[in-house]
Amino acid sequence: MRKLRKIIFPTAGMGTRFLPATKASPKEMLTVVDKPLIQYGVEEALAAGMDQIIMVTGRGKRSIEDHFDISAELESNLRNAGKEELYKEVSRVARMAEVIYVRQKQALGLGHAVRCAAHWINDEPFGVSLADELIVGETPAMQQLKEVYDQTRCSVIGLMQVPRGEVYKYGIVSIQGETDGLLRLSGMVEKPAVDDAPSDMAIIGRYIFTPRLMQLLKLVTPGKGNEIQLTDAIAELAREEPVYGVPVHGQRFDAGNPGGFLLANAVLGLQHPQYGDTLRKALKPYL
Ligand code: G1P
Repeated sequence: MRKLRKIIFPTAGMGTRFLPATKASPKEMLTVVDKPLIQYGVEEALAAGMDQIIMVTGRGKRSIEDHFDISAELESNLRNAGKEELYKEVSRVARMAEVIYVRQKQALGLGHAVRCAAHWINDEPFGVSLADELIVGETPAMQQLKEVYDQTRCSVIGLMQVPRGEVYKYGIVSIQGETDGLLRLSGMVEKPAVDDAPSDMAIIGRYIFTPRLMQLLKLVTPGKGNEIQLTDAIAELAREEPVYGVPVHGQRFDAGNPGGFLLANAVLGLQHPQYGDTLRKALKPYL
């Protein structure tokens, strides 16, 4: 099988939970401390050696393209103004990855978004990453998945334990068994009611797939919420070939809703080497 280099970022969602902030700008461009959410996701993928990025975008998402594009005017202005550090950062971001943009013309679900990138995957393994799930830690989340992929050459799904009262927000997996620290998954359900949840292990928006997943996605019919669900295609895949789950280590923020986003800014702000101390002092009178 070909080397794992491709990764799909579904970014066509409307960001309704963030309105009105997301009325005219994509939720993926919302800034956590000093960079947009999507940049965290791309840097995490690059750290795992996945350097061919396929961004599935939609209407109103053009600023994502601009963010990863070269702005000759901005770069020369920064250089002329002697702002060398800013120049370096701006030019690094513009050149960090090869990015292909694909349009998802209708919001038919996460599975449909991934399927929109099929043409660019061919017969290769690929990653999928949801940028509004912000995960930070010593070993980047995608790297943790990749280590299991390298060992097994099978599909790998990032997981985290969630309180039972929150299972309805996630894809929830059933675990068939554990061998040598690897969790073999036997199935999964999208956003189950608490009584129907097969476990409390949730899918957290980090995936590595064998090419077979893309073929199965083409066959999946609308499921939960009348949407084409990625989870349903993975459940089908698990019937055909081994699919492993990896409990991901790190701090995870559901930055796709205002509460989680605020928490991400607060925690990462306090941990930031440049802003942390000042922020801590400035916040004291408010706590
Ligand atoms: C998607 C997936 C779900 C997963 C979740 C993680 O749902 O369908 O399986 O648990 O992302 O954030 P969404 O939150 O996009 O509705």
